[in-house]
Amino acid sequence: MLISMKKTFGFLTAIFVFSSCYLFSSCYYDVEKQLYPPSGCDTTNATYASYIAPLMQNNCTACHSTAAPSANIILDTYNGVKSAATSGKLYGSMSHASGFIAMPPSGTKLNSCDLTKVNKWITAGSPNN
Ligand code: HEC
Repeated sequence: MLISMKKTFGFLTAIFVFSSCYLFSSCYYDVEKQLYPPSGCDTTNATYASYIAPLMQNNCTACHSTAAPSANIILDTYNGVKSAATSGKLYGSMSHASGFIAMPPSGTKLNSCDLTKVNKWITAGSPNN
C-alpha cells in the first residue's frame, strides 16, 4: 500500500514537472512569435472589410453579436470591433495576454499570422478600410 502511494506520488510529480516545463516553454515561444512574424505571412491587405470582419465572423460573432454580446463586446459591427481594439481588449484576449480573458474560450489561440495581421490593423488605428 505504502509503496503504491509512493509510486503514485512520484508519477504525479513527474506529470507536474513535465507540464510546468511545457507551459513555460510555450509562453516563451508565444513571445518569440510576436517578435518575429511568421515567414510567409502577408500582412499587406489585411483590411477591415476583407480580413478583420470575416475573421470575427468565423471565430467570434457567435458569442459577440449585437443581439447577444458576451461581456458587452460586439464584434459584428465596425464600431464594436474598433472599440474593443481601442480598449486593448481585442488583441489582449486574442493573444492570450495576461490580464485579459483568453479568447476564443475553447482555448485554441488563432494562428500567429492572424494575430500579426490583427495587431497590424490595430496599430494602424483600426481603420474602416
Ligand atoms: C463560445 C463563446 C465565445 C466565443 C466564440 C468568443 N467569445 Fe469572447 N467572450 C465570451 C464570454 C462568455 C466572455 C466573458 C467571459 C467572462 O466574463 O468570464 C467573453 C469575453 C471577451 C472579451 C472581454 C475580455 C476581457 O479581458 O475583458 C473580449 C475582448 C472577447 N471576448 C473577444 C473575443 C474574440 C476576439 C473572439 C474571437 C477570436 C471571441 N471573444 C470569441 C464568449 C466567447
